[in-house]
Amino acid sequence: MVTAESSVKEAAVQTVSEGRVLKVGPLKPSLTATLTEKYDALDLPVGDDRTRFLAEHGESVTAVVTSGRTGVDAALMTELPNLGAIVHFGVGYDTTDVVLAEELGIGVSNTPDVLTDCVADTAVGLLIDTLRGFSAADRFVRDGRWPAEGNFPLTRQVSGTRVGIVGLGRIGSAIATRLTGFGCTISYHNRREVPGSPFAYVGSAAALAAGVDVLIVAAAGGKGTEKLVDREVLEALGPDGYLINVARGSVVDEDALVELLTDRKLAGAGLDVFAREPHVPEALLALDTVVLLPHVASGTTETRAAMEALTLQNLDEYLAQGTLTTPVLEPRSR
Ligand code: 8YV
Repeated sequence: MVTAESSVKEAAVQTVSEGRVLKVGPLKPSLTATLTEKYDALDLPVGDDRTRFLAEHGESVTAVVTSGRTGVDAALMTELPNLGAIVHFGVGYDTTDVVLAEELGIGVSNTPDVLTDCVADTAVGLLIDTLRGFSAADRFVRDGRWPAEGNFPLTRQVSGTRVGIVGLGRIGSAIATRLTGFGCTISYHNRREVPGSPFAYVGSAAALAAGVDVLIVAAAGGKGTEKLVDREVLEALGPDGYLINVARGSVVDEDALVELLTDRKLAGAGLDVFAREPHVPEALLALDTVVLLPHVASGTTETRAAMEALTLQNLDEYLAQGTLTTPVLEPRSR
């Protein structure tokens, strides 16, 4: 039976499937190719062409595919009046204005779960590398310093350390599970205590830092967590403490971090993310106490393929029926 409600929904789905898909920002090459070849997707140009492009095509766009590195800000969202869904390749979507998206009824999806293992593996790898100084030891060997200088200096034991996790979500929990295998004592700070968690909850990031050897940042980025790990938290971690960040550079006060590391008021840091990627503070390059990665936590063939498949699944579902597979925000008819 065709009801008024079902015909409105059908009309909305029809508009969605008739609209264009827009790629925003650089994406995995195979995803870019699929979007171009199979979806006839448009590319948002950068620079002077953008205004002309949006005037010509803005109204036809019903879905955007982007990543957490680029996202859709308020300015772009308002220039796409028929946009119904923003599909993110990646779990983080802090570069997208989700408050405005909600107001406008635009759906937002990400790719949770499929990258949890790789990001947690990276956190543990960075922790071990940072405490044991493996990257620095590798440089020591390559630079021919072993025969000249003798033994590499002693480092810090990983097993049995006290680890504090900021953000006990999917990724934070997977890190905790791995580290229990190393006999680490795990505590955490979160917006809310996680019911049923076997790990000790601590009410503030500073109090958590004061009681651990290693602080791991696994909280989502965005306004709510900006500089959650501030100077006070880093000072509480202290000169024997280590910071590991696999979340977003924005969660940590990077200027304070660089200053404390340079002054040896922190023992070391393992960083996969930075405040102004791909720019890494110059002062960190000279420090052997720091391990620096170019935002590679989810970067394995297997995980990136799974992220790509889930991105396309979200897009297909939106184009076919106006819903998303892994929504952060459900689309509403506009
Ligand atoms: C990716 C990430 O590097 O998923 C995220 O939020 O930070 C990483 O897994 C990124 O999504 C690729 O653009």
